[in-house]
Amino acid sequence: MVNTSEYWEQRYREGTTRWDLGQAAPAFISLLQSHSLLPGKAAVLGSGRGYDAIAFAQYGFDVIGFDFAPAAIAEATAIAQTNGCSAKFLKRNIFDLPNEFFQYFHYVIEHTCFCAINPQQRQEYVKVVKEILQPRGELIAIFFTHSRPGGPPFGVSPEEIEQYFEADFEILKLQPIANSVPARQGEEHFGHFRLI
Ligand SMILES: C[S@@+](CC[C@H](N)C(=O)[O-])C[C@H]1O[C@@H](n2cnc3c(N)ncnc32)[C@H](O)[C@@H]1O
Repeated sequence: MVNTSEYWEQRYREGTTRWDLGQAAPAFISLLQSHSLLPGKAAVLGSGRGYDAIAFAQYGFDVIGFDFAPAAIAEATAIAQTNGCSAKFLKRNIFDLPNEFFQYFHYVIEHTCFCAINPQQRQEYVKVVKEILQPRGELIAIFFTHSRPGGPPFGVSPEEIEQYFEADFEILKLQPIANSVPARQGEEHFGHFRLI
C-alpha cells in the first residue's frame, strides 16, 4: 500500500529504490545556478535520500526534508552530515504537516512525491502545500508526466496538474523539462506556482 510508511521503508531496506537519481534533479540545479530565487525557508516533500534538499541548502535555503520512511531520513541525514550541509530531515507523514508547520515555508519543493502518493490523495496534497506555505509562497516542482497506467510512479498530465492547482495558485510556469536524466526524457514538467 503506497500510503503506508512500511511500503516505502521496505523499498529502502531492500535497496529497490529505482527512482533514486543519486544526485539532485538537473532541473533544480539549473534553477539554483540561475540565482533567480531569493533563498528562504523550504520544505522538500517525500525527500528520500535528500539530494534535492541538500542542493537547495547549499544555495542558501533553510531546508527541511520530510519523509515518513525512517531509513530515508537516516540516510539523508548521514549524507547531509558527510557533506557538511545544514539541511535537516524529519520523519513525518506529509499529510500531517499543516498541524506543525502552518504558513511556515516560503517554498515547497516537489520531486517524485506527488507521483508516489495514492492519486486519490492528490487534492489533499494540494491542501497541504497551500497550508504550509506563507502567503504568496511558491511551489517549485518536477512532475512526472508519463502516461503509463498504474504506479507508483502514478503519472499525471499537465492539464490535470493545472486543474489541481489553479484554484489556489498562480501558474507562473508549467513546461516540459529539457535536461531530465535519460530515463525520464520527455516525461517531466517543471512547475513554478505562487499561492494566490
Ligand atoms: C519515489 S520516492 C522519491 C524520493 C525522492 N524525492 C527522490 O526523488 O529520490 C517517494 C518518497 O516519498 C515518501 N513518501 C510517500 N508518501 C509519503 C507521505 N505520505 N509522507 C511522507 N513521505 C512520503 C516515500 O517514503 C519516498 O521516500
